[in-house]
Amino acid sequence: MSMSSAVSNFSNMTDLLRSVITRIYAESPYLLHVLYALQRKFLHISDEAVREVAAHLDLPTSQVDAVVEFYAFFHKIPRGRYDILFSNCTSCGYMAGGVDLMAMFGRRLGIAVGKTRGDGLVSMDQTSCIGMCDHGAALLVNGMPITSLDGPMIDSIAALVEAATPLEDWPAEWFYVEGNIRVSGLLLKDDLSEGISLRAMLALGAVGSLSEIIQSGLRGRGGAGFSTGMKWQLCRDAQGAAHYVVCNADEGEPGTFKDRVLLHSYADSLFEGMTVCAFAIGAKQGYLYLRAEYRYLLSHLQSVLTRRRELGLLGVGILGQPGFSFDIDIVVGAGAYICGEESALIESLEGKRGIPRVRPPFPVTHGYLGQPTVVNNVETFIAAAHIVLRGSAWFRAVGTGKSVGSKILSISGDCAAPGIYEYPFGVTIRQVLDDCGAKDVLAVQIGGPSGTLINRAEFDRRLDFDDLSTGGSLMIFNQARDLLAVIVNFAHFFAHESCGFCTPCRVGTTLLKNGLDKIAGGHGTQYDLDEMQRIAALVKYRSHCGLGQTAANPILDGLQRFPQAFEQRLVHSDEPHFDLDAALEEARQVSHRDDTAAHIK
Ligand SMILES: Cc1cc2nc3c(=O)[nH]c(=O)nc-3n(C[C@H](O)[C@H](O)[C@H](O)COP(=O)(O)O)c2cc1C
Ligand code: SF4
Repeated sequence: MSMSSAVSNFSNMTDLLRSVITRIYAESPYLLHVLYALQRKFLHISDEAVREVAAHLDLPTSQVDAVVEFYAFFHKIPRGRYDILFSNCTSCGYMAGGVDLMAMFGRRLGIAVGKTRGDGLVSMDQTSCIGMCDHGAALLVNGMPITSLDGPMIDSIAALVEAATPLEDWPAEWFYVEGNIRVSGLLLKDDLSEGISLRAMLALGAVGSLSEIIQSGLRGRGGAGFSTGMKWQLCRDAQGAAHYVVCNADEGEPGTFKDRVLLHSYADSLFEGMTVCAFAIGAKQGYLYLRAEYRYLLSHLQSVLTRRRELGLLGVGILGQPGFSFDIDIVVGAGAYICGEESALIESLEGKRGIPRVRPPFPVTHGYLGQPTVVNNVETFIAAAHIVLRGSAWFRAVGTGKSVGSKILSISGDCAAPGIYEYPFGVTIRQVLDDCGAKDVLAVQIGGPSGTLINRAEFDRRLDFDDLSTGGSLMIFNQARDLLAVIVNFAHFFAHESCGFCTPCRVGTTLLKNGLDKIAGGHGTQYDLDEMQRIAALVKYRSHCGLGQTAANPILDGLQRFPQAFEQRLVHSDEPHFDLDAALEEARQVSHRDDTAAHIK
């Protein structure tokens, strides 16, 4: 049914809005889900829709309005019926040519980046990493990923859009996302069969299960490496009306996609792990916070949850234990990297903007709805499920020192076989590079843009919490790559994803981005470089949360290890620091001019 005929069946738009909101809210009482449904149906979220949502959910209009403004996937101005977002991540946007393909697509359909075509058929924009870095250039069309893009595919997609072909009639194989598991270790060998860890857990009891997790030495796989056993113990000991388990499946760090594969192929192991955690800490409710870019996995995940309820592995009286009830809801985000930070994630779950909280107090005592909450990464919960089943000694037998067990890596960039690799902690970078077929490597970015950039001399360093710690991303750059372009891409990412709450990060990330653009454009001087180092230190040490505290890492690492990448672009003359031609760009755009006379030089 078209929107106009839908409206005519209702006395007016207000009635239609109310009916949509009532229906969606009854299905799924989360603000983000109600807003998403409105965005899909009306292609934007109008001021009237905001007021109706606020009234129905009994929230301040200002809160709903702020949420719509905050998340990248909500819009107050109508989008096209085909809403196309090209990933501008370093791996798929820059290295695999996604940004060039976006320009080509724009030319085919006569549409500029960030715009909706006049006839309302199509919108085109770029978006931060969509977690498809092992698949070449990639896009989302109405939330569905299409990967391995090339010129002929862009032509085909443009033709399908122009003919207004429904997505169901597009080639089905385009939407298939391969897992690309290359090396399997402790966790990837198999998905646990339903209930196997839960039976082991019941045999151990809650205290015994928790004790196994503590003794295993398991540390969080989301990046920070906090002791999982200690986190669970602190939460169990905390007083509260209810305890909660939250799985962080927001996986937004560019170059990271291992959780995508885990969610797709190891969902039972994940839900076993979350249920073990619930048993250990005394929780009745869990949430899986799924990044919007992985919405295409939602129906699969829901079907796994439904099956587990039917098998008595979720719900009331799990496995016949009258005292143990637990269930899991999935809440889908709306395009904000900062919502991977655990306190921002909790805010988002509560239907607010994803602004990181002031800590302490930590989520283990004051988390979701102010109650004791465990937040863990997807991989952490899967490891916990295996530990309860096979014992802490089994887990400790692998790895090194304080980094026990295995780490699952997402490998992308210049190598023959990008994909998922699981290694015991302590593996060298050299070994990983050999295994994935990387040749003539210049540099490797470990842990995504917020991690560490290393050079050839460091390839004998090890992946573990004492040396190179990582949430799982490894981006490989060969000798032909322009490292400054890579660092510029990272700086744009951070400036775009800063939530804007604190000044050092909000202003600092933009200044760093502008400074790098100037240097990369051949207009920077030694003064600019010195200024950037000063600002980088400020952003690192004065920002409120991990995003700001790590945003300058690529610049600082780059300056330390690859100073020539910057220095060779510097202007060594008396060229003024102010670029008058660049400053006139906005005026040119407003006046629709880009001819020679509209430029200074
Ligand atoms: C900006 C930012 C983004 C983050 N993104 C993620 C993420 O996508 N997934 C994740 O598990 N942890 C992420 N984290 C870390 C979480 O805050 C938290 O430490 C983690 O979910 C805890 O789980 P773990 O102990 O199992 O690692 C992020 C942190 C920051 C500062
Ligand atoms: S450091 Fe950046 S992302 Fe974190 S709270 Fe401040 S502005 Fe937001």
